[in-house]
Amino acid sequence: MTQEELFKKLVAHAKEYGFIFPSSEIYDGLSAVYDYGQMGVELKNNIKRYWWDAMTRLHDNIVGIDAAIFMHPKVWEASGHVSAFNDPLIDNKDSKKRYRADVLIEDWLAKQDEKIAREVEKARKRFGESFDEEKYLATSPRVVELAAKRDEVHRRMTEALNANDFTELRQIILDCEIACPISGTRNWTEVRQFNLMFETKVGSVAEGANTIYLRPETAQGIFVNFLNVQKTGRMKLPFGIAQIGKAFRNEIVARQFIFRMREFEQMEMQFFIRPGEEMKWYEYWKTFRMKWHRALGFGDDNYRFHDHEKLAHYANAAADIEYNFPFGFKEVEGIHSRTDFDLGQHQKFSGRKMQYFDAETGESYVPYVVETSIGVDRMVLQVLSAAYTEERLENGEERVVMRFPAALAPVKAAVLPLVKKDGLPELAREIIAGLRLDFNVQYDEKDSIGKRYRRQDAIGTPFCITVDHQSLEDGTVTVRRRDDMEQHRVAATELHSLLERETGFRALFQKLA
Ligand code: GAP
Repeated sequence: MTQEELFKKLVAHAKEYGFIFPSSEIYDGLSAVYDYGQMGVELKNNIKRYWWDAMTRLHDNIVGIDAAIFMHPKVWEASGHVSAFNDPLIDNKDSKKRYRADVLIEDWLAKQDEKIAREVEKARKRFGESFDEEKYLATSPRVVELAAKRDEVHRRMTEALNANDFTELRQIILDCEIACPISGTRNWTEVRQFNLMFETKVGSVAEGANTIYLRPETAQGIFVNFLNVQKTGRMKLPFGIAQIGKAFRNEIVARQFIFRMREFEQMEMQFFIRPGEEMKWYEYWKTFRMKWHRALGFGDDNYRFHDHEKLAHYANAAADIEYNFPFGFKEVEGIHSRTDFDLGQHQKFSGRKMQYFDAETGESYVPYVVETSIGVDRMVLQVLSAAYTEERLENGEERVVMRFPAALAPVKAAVLPLVKKDGLPELAREIIAGLRLDFNVQYDEKDSIGKRYRRQDAIGTPFCITVDHQSLEDGTVTVRRRDDMEQHRVAATELHSLLERETGFRALFQKLA
C-alpha cells in the first residue's frame, strides 16, 4: 500500500468511527473546515490535557490564561499582522485556480527529490550489494545535475521570499516550467500579496461599524495580558504564560485533511526572559518540546528539527519540530525566539510601559520572549497517522487498530457482557457505574464478542473487559489488551487500579522529568 493510499484510508476511518467529519457536510462541506465527532473530541481533549499539564502543572513558573478571540484592531497593527501576515499568490488564467507561489515551487523541489530517489533506487538494483549510495550521489552525472538545479532553485526561492521579490518568484515558476495541475497550462498572472486574516464587523452598521479581525494566533492574547498576569500573579522572570484556543487564517492552499485548516486550535506558551538569555531558553524549549513528542512512543526517528531560513518578522531564531506524516516530514510545532518585538510594539502602540522591574539587577526592561506554538489539530493528525495500523491475524482475519498511547485513547475500557442474559448485563452495568466516575468507559452488548473487540480496536480502546458466567461466581472478569490481544482474568475490584496505572498521564509525565 502506498503512503497516499494509507492516508486516504486514514481519512475514511476517521470519519467512519466518529473522529472527524467535514464541516456542514449535508451542504457538501466547507473547504478546510472540519468538525470533531464523538471520538475525535475525546482524543483532542486528551491531547490538550497532556500539553496543558506538561506546560503549566509540571513547571512552577508557567501559568495559563484564556483570552478572547476578538481583540482591539490595534493589536494586529502592532504585531505586524496587518502589514506582513501575507502569502504570495498566483492565479492560473485558464483554470482560474489560485495557488501560493512558494508552494508551487516547493512542490517542484519535492519532485526533484523524488527523481533523485528513483535514480538511486535504480542504481541500487543494478549494482546490488556493492552499491555505495554516497559515492553514487556525488558522481552520477544525472543526479549531480538534478541536485544542482534543485539547490539553485531553492536558493533563488529563499532569497526572493526574504526580499519579498514577487517578480523573481514568478520568474522561478516560469523557469521551472511549472504548470497548473488543473489546466496543465503555464498561463500565470503576476504574483500578489494576500492577507490571511479574516475580517468582521463589531457593532451595528448604523452606529458606524468597526473592522476587527478573528485572531490568526493566540500569542497576542498573551502579550497584551503580560502586565496583568505578572502583577496579579507576582511572577518573577523567567516565567511563562500558556494558552489553548482557536485561531483563524484564510489559507489559500488548504489540503491534507486537518493539516492546514481555516479554523484551527493552537496551544501556545510565551516564556518571558531577560534580554541576552534567549539562546539558552530557546535551546531549553527545543529540547523539552521534542521530549514531549517523543514520550508518546511513536519512534524517535519520526521526528526532526527544521531550522528556519526565512525568519518571521518578529524572530531572531526559529525551528520547527517536524513529524513523518504519510505525506512526508511536515511541521507540527514551532519554537521561536521572538526577542522583545511584541512587547516593544505594544508599548509603542498602546503608550503603556510593557516593562519588568528586575530586583536583582535594579533595572527595568522589556522582557525577551521564547515561544512554543503547536497546532492541536496537527497534533491530532499526527497521533491518528501514527496510531493507524492494519493487521492480519493468525486466524486470517484482518483488523484495523488505533494504537493510541493509552493516556490519549478516547475510551479507556469497554465493558462487555458475554451474553445478553443470565444477569451478565446487570453485573457489567454495575462495574461500569464504578469505573465511569474516573474513566471514560463504554458498555456494549450488541453482536458477537469478536465483532465488539474489532469495534473497540478501531477506536483504539486499550482494554476490553468481558463479564461471563464465572464472573457471577467468583467476581473475576477477563481483561483483553488491545495491542497484543492477550487475555487474563482479574478480580473486578482490581479494575480501577489497573486503569489508573495503565491509562493515566503519570507514566508520560515521568518521561518529561
Ligand atoms: N504564534 C506563532 C505562530 O502562530 P505558526 O508557525 O504560524 O506560528 C504555529 O503556527 C503552529 O500552528 C504550527 O506549527 C501548526 O501546528 C499550527 N498551524 C498554523 N497554521 C495552521 C493551519 N492553517 N491549520 C492547522 N494548524 C495550523
